[in-house]
Amino acid sequence: MYPSNLTIESIGKAFRLALANGFIREEDTLVMFHDLSFLQERIHHLNSVFPASTLHAVAMKANPLIRILEFIHQLGAGAEVASLAELKIALKTGYTAEKIIYDSPVKTWLDLEFALTAGVHINIDSLAELERVATLKQTIDSGSTIGIRINPQVGVGTILESSVAGEYSKFGIPIKTGRKELVDAFLIYPWITGVHLHVGSQGCSKELLLSGIGILYDFVNEINEKRKTTGLQPISIFDIGGGLPVSYKGDQIPVSMEDYARAIAVKYPSLFTSHFSLLTEFGRWVHVNAGWTVSRVEYVKRDSGINTAMIHAGADLFLRECLNPKSWQHEYSVFDKTGNLKSGKDMNPYNLAGPLCFSGDILARNVALPMIEEGDYLVIHDTGGYTLSMWSRYNSRQTPRIIGYTGEVFEILKERESFKELEGFWG
Ligand SMILES: Cc1ncc(COP(=O)(O)O)c(C=O)c1O
Repeated sequence: MYPSNLTIESIGKAFRLALANGFIREEDTLVMFHDLSFLQERIHHLNSVFPASTLHAVAMKANPLIRILEFIHQLGAGAEVASLAELKIALKTGYTAEKIIYDSPVKTWLDLEFALTAGVHINIDSLAELERVATLKQTIDSGSTIGIRINPQVGVGTILESSVAGEYSKFGIPIKTGRKELVDAFLIYPWITGVHLHVGSQGCSKELLLSGIGILYDFVNEINEKRKTTGLQPISIFDIGGGLPVSYKGDQIPVSMEDYARAIAVKYPSLFTSHFSLLTEFGRWVHVNAGWTVSRVEYVKRDSGINTAMIHAGADLFLRECLNPKSWQHEYSVFDKTGNLKSGKDMNPYNLAGPLCFSGDILARNVALPMIEEGDYLVIHDTGGYTLSMWSRYNSRQTPRIIGYTGEVFEILKERESFKELEGFWG
């Protein structure tokens, strides 16, 4: 069975080694870890279940750490970027233009000019953006391939805030109401050779993701018939986006990437043939389960009814968890100061409270955990994606030290932010 999460045994082992080898210093009240072997296996798995020619452009927004970008790039991954800065980071990190997909709903003239000159694949988000690209292409001799993001309008998943294929979405051109304009665009501009969809991130079932692909698959077949009669090159780039959910809690059954790929091949067979260049943009599935975070417990407040463990991460690192706790929950483990896992029959409810100055800065409420004492360490599982990339500067806390490891070999991927760097942020 393909591993969905890191085991507590492997986390405990790495944690004890990090402690014993001085990787967690007194000032490292919060440290993030990435298991690079697990991450490597994720990229290998993607390559093994999709056709070999598929470009897996991993969503940079999930984890933009340069060392991680370099690591997955060496394994053959591409990058899906969502801003000009992400695009520049990808290029600087060594990703070639053919390995980069540029998505953003608010690309400026300057952004588009840069992307067209660099020659990356661009997914156009709106008809207005299409007009800009058409204008720019008159003067820029660009190697970019161009797709259009289409909202398949198949419905929302269980998390509204990360669903983007409802009847209304701020992303893409809606297939129902925008159909005529879409058909016209594909017949007017021969250089549009791709389609793109993204149904949502987490909270979307495999079936919902598949039906989104199905809507575009039928549409592309229809357009290609029309393009054939007018002598236009067929649409051949099919970008299925990301969105496969992962398991954060023990009771969440993970969706298998292998099953997802197989279902695409069965339902939409030509996507797995040489008629199409297939693109994917998984972020969460690649990164989340490869990482974990450890915070020192600075204090424990014991009130009647509920105890509160005061830790060093809250809404700065776990924005979604604090603001939308019903949808975003993790598993937690407690270690003592020498690195022994605490367990026991005597579980008590704890609130896990962050360090920020607002009352909603609570990572989780009423979590049943073994007795927590000052100086213990709380491990937050499955934090390899959508954590540091969503970091908030509120209260000016320094970003944590970030460590990568392969077996027993550790490396610092990013040092804890210095006071000088932090001060520099404020101008
Ligand atoms: C356009 C696009 N592609 C890919 C992704 C990655 O989604 P996930 O990390 O759920 O795979 C996102 C996430 O928001 C996205 O907006």
